[in-house]
Amino acid sequence: MKLKIAKLPGDGIGPEVVEQAVKVVDAVCRKFGHEVEYSFGYVGACAIDRYGDAFPDETYKTCLESDAVLFGAVGDPKYDNDPTAKVRPEQGLLAMRKKLGLYANLRPVETFKSLIHKSPLKEELVDGADFLCMRELTGGMYFGAKGREDNGDTAYDTNIYHRYEVERILKLSYEYAMKRRKHLTVVDKANVLESSRLWRQVAQEMAPQYPEVTTDYMYVDNAAMKLITGPKFFDVIVTENTFGDILTDEASCVSGSMGLLASASIGEHTGVYEPIHGSYPQAAGKNIANPVATILSAAMMFEYAFGLMEEGRAIREAVAASIEKGIVTEDLAGNAKAYSTSEVGDWIAANI
Ligand code: IPM
Ligand code: MN
Repeated sequence: MKLKIAKLPGDGIGPEVVEQAVKVVDAVCRKFGHEVEYSFGYVGACAIDRYGDAFPDETYKTCLESDAVLFGAVGDPKYDNDPTAKVRPEQGLLAMRKKLGLYANLRPVETFKSLIHKSPLKEELVDGADFLCMRELTGGMYFGAKGREDNGDTAYDTNIYHRYEVERILKLSYEYAMKRRKHLTVVDKANVLESSRLWRQVAQEMAPQYPEVTTDYMYVDNAAMKLITGPKFFDVIVTENTFGDILTDEASCVSGSMGLLASASIGEHTGVYEPIHGSYPQAAGKNIANPVATILSAAMMFEYAFGLMEEGRAIREAVAASIEKGIVTEDLAGNAKAYSTSEVGDWIAANI
């Protein structure tokens, strides 16, 4: 198969981790006989520096012309403590999601046997946890009307959802639940928020169409607790944009490191495959960041963008072997030897 992949490394550790994923993609293509063609785009702070725009049209075009986007991270500390900044790197990521219509962000959480002891949670609680967070990605407070009034002394963000936005992400979530353990948890704050009541209403209307799936409803505060006290309860979790952002950082603790969590953002146009972590500027250029989340995002890319399941599995097996053998970066090494970003990438690529 011919694969057209856009590389958007972004900022901070983005370029280092994407480079490792590319090594692995190349190894997979060699092994399975695929031809791969890469293009490149700027996004985030590096795009602001170059174009004054965090998601330039050129990058957008590059994405549209590709079959999949391999994305690193955006963010730069020079913007973080300046609430008055007019352009911000994060706008690049949000513009990309919106313009590509990527309404569903799939964030699977699994555990690796040899890393169970790395989780800050008790082993017996996390051993065997395996769930999929479906985060709505183009609606809610992230994109609703926002602004300042009162000479800047009043600020607001609007958490707005339309029925069609709720329906499409719920439909996808039911489809994934059907392929998994047939248990869907709809997470909202319907005891307080009107937008959550719409979510719950739509879910209650749809549930009878999926009689094999057990649907339950959970308030987000309770879900935050349940993720820590009993993560094995969950199979598929679906929730709105902001709740999903927060809950998935929390959920990464179940696996042991944020550097392990991959994601796929899919919807109307080209899908984006991205680690859930940020640009980790303190580590940029030091060759210490964990590349596994990005490498596992490449596995999701083979599976979701190209339907190449064997290829995805080859990556997952090589990653599992690297962890098993202790070929890991400092976030996971503990007292044992820590390998560099590129050593981990090389090892995984060589073991495809
Ligand atoms: C994520 C990130 C982004 C988000 C930021 C960088 C805008 O935290 O992908 O989870 O909030 O969606
Ligand atoms: Mn986040």
